[in-house]
Amino acid sequence: MDKVIKTGVSFPKKLLEKFDNVIVEMGFASRSQAIQEAIRCFISLNSWRLLEEDVAGAILVHYSHEGHELEENLTDVQHHFMDIIPSTLHLHLSKEDCLLIIAVRGRASRVEELLRRLRSVGKLKQVTHLIMPTY
Ligand code: NI
Repeated sequence: MDKVIKTGVSFPKKLLEKFDNVIVEMGFASRSQAIQEAIRCFISLNSWRLLEEDVAGAILVHYSHEGHELEENLTDVQHHFMDIIPSTLHLHLSKEDCLLIIAVRGRASRVEELLRRLRSVGKLKQVTHLIMPTY
């Protein structure tokens, strides 16, 4: 077995509570085991970015539109990636919250660059994606 390293991680209280509930529901023996599994999924989910191939999929950005600067910044980033964004969809989730779905199609490295730029726009609630190779 691989050497085991102990580490400390900070979580928002609510997130950890939800995670612990899922752990119980799914029957994990321990929180450590579940976190290891989650990290394996994270690595697998993001493995496409190392491909020098074409990929396609969607990026989901959850944010509060209260900050107008934030919305402007999001639009600004997208205008720099017109070559890989064929379409976007804006959903109004509530009075404050919006979900931006950005369809992407192009080189993995370019999509990775867009994701990095989107994540650097501060105060977003969540940025997630579903990207798959198209070869
Ligand atoms: Ni909206």
